Amino acid sequence: MLLHTILLCSVLSANAYKLLVVFPIPSKSHGILGEGFVTHLLKAGHEVTYVTPILIKESPGLQQIDVSENARVLSPEIFDVSKVLTKELNLQDYELWSVVMTEILNITFNSDNVQRLLNDKDEKFDAVIVEWLFTELGAGLSAIFNCPLIWSSSMSPHTYVTSLVNEHLNPAYTPTLLSTKFSFDFWDRALNLWTYLKIWNHKRQFADKETKVYEEVFGPAAALRGQKLPAFDEVRYNASLMFGNSHVSVAETIALPQNYKDIGGYHIKRNVDPLPQNLQQIMDNSRDGVIYFSLGSLLQPQKMPIKMKRDLLNYFSALKQTVIWKLGENLTDVPKNVHLFSWAPQQSILAHPNCVLFITHAGLLSILEAIYFGVPIIGLPFFADQFVNIERAVAKGFAKRLDFSYNSPVELNEAIKEILSNTSYRDRAKDWSSIYHDKLVSPEKELVFWVEHVIKTRGAKHLRSIALATEWYKKYYMDLLACSLLSIIVLSLALCKLLPVFKNNKKKTD
Ligand SMILES: *[C@@H]1O[C@H](CO)[C@@H](O)[C@H](O)[C@H]1NC(C)=O
Repeated sequence: MLLHTILLCSVLSANAYKLLVVFPIPSKSHGILGEGFVTHLLKAGHEVTYVTPILIKESPGLQQIDVSENARVLSPEIFDVSKVLTKELNLQDYELWSVVMTEILNITFNSDNVQRLLNDKDEKFDAVIVEWLFTELGAGLSAIFNCPLIWSSSMSPHTYVTSLVNEHLNPAYTPTLLSTKFSFDFWDRALNLWTYLKIWNHKRQFADKETKVYEEVFGPAAALRGQKLPAFDEVRYNASLMFGNSHVSVAETIALPQNYKDIGGYHIKRNVDPLPQNLQQIMDNSRDGVIYFSLGSLLQPQKMPIKMKRDLLNYFSALKQTVIWKLGENLTDVPKNVHLFSWAPQQSILAHPNCVLFITHAGLLSILEAIYFGVPIIGLPFFADQFVNIERAVAKGFAKRLDFSYNSPVELNEAIKEILSNTSYRDRAKDWSSIYHDKLVSPEKELVFWVEHVIKTRGAKHLRSIALATEWYKKYYMDLLACSLLSIIVLSLALCKLLPVFKNNKKKTD
């Protein structure tokens, strides 16, 4: 027995890897995605060092590096819904996000806790897994620790992540991560192309600033190890793998490179937690169904004007269904069929068979959970990829989109009636749900498998796209074009020179 245990332990430790997992964004949903990586990798027997602003439960094999000081960059004021109403704030600005994210990473890497890690010459990792969000600065960690780089992208595949491992996407059929509308109409396609070019240009202009931060942050740590810091472009395009928090049930189906793995839904618990007793009772007793209304963890729905809240309550009171509203404050005179909460166990609510509709801000985690449990949605997008997420859900037939405005209570009431009376929304949600669940292996198994594969094969070079290694002028045959043009010019010039000679000769013979 003892021998058996010792043998088992040695086998486990022989295959145990040491991973650095970096999810620096100080927001709950990004924390959930980071925690998913940590949980699955620990469960597979690996050791994890987790750089996060949101600490999770202690666990054997886990070391956490607290970078919560970076949260000061993302003031909660940014997510005040009343400022969206008055249009004081435009959260779809790529420039704003790249400045904010670069600053978050700058503070993260310069924090004492991360500096201690970077300056510890004996520290080694088998791979680093870094979340991509508007900047590739995190790639520097793989250069310092001299190990493979794995990206994690929290969104459906978009051109700024695919271009890191393969190519830019075609704007004619893929929206940008910050598009607010998307269709194949002439003007929408033109606008999408324009947005692509604008972002591309901004990224190019911002590159110097990013490179400077990269050199400042990682230069000293490289020198300490006696290494030369590679050029930023060399590491930013050097990822072995990219994980995407997506699935074809929530995005367009496009061609992706071999080292891009969609693992959307890996954060969802296979056995959801039981509901708290009061919620369990409310949901069990709602024979006509439950509508769950939550705008996620960042937005502050309690900031909406009081008249709007009262109007919403009025409309809700006329419904046969029960409404569970994660509002974040208590109100007086709440109708009998409405229950207000400041926190709600979202997965457990969506998993309840009586849940008939989810009103959401259309964050990707919420949409994936809706699909996982087969619940139709009404989306009120506010920022980032929420607009494209809901556009895609509408196109797939399991959602309606509303734009947040003073008219929202009226529109929401109509949308609720439409979704509850027309069964096609629920049917499509169930269809997509069964497509989601019909797969060879679960996303968490893929996650662990591919991380191990990258380490075992020392960087999985065999999975990398050849497109990334092909110079742009060769890719678009610019050299051929240049050659052809040159030949035409030379030939024309020669003809011009020779023609008069021919003419003169002809005259002479005449
Ligand atoms: C690129 O990745 C490979 C495989 O992980 C690694 O061997 C190489 O050193 C990396 N190059 C740079 C410049 O980081």
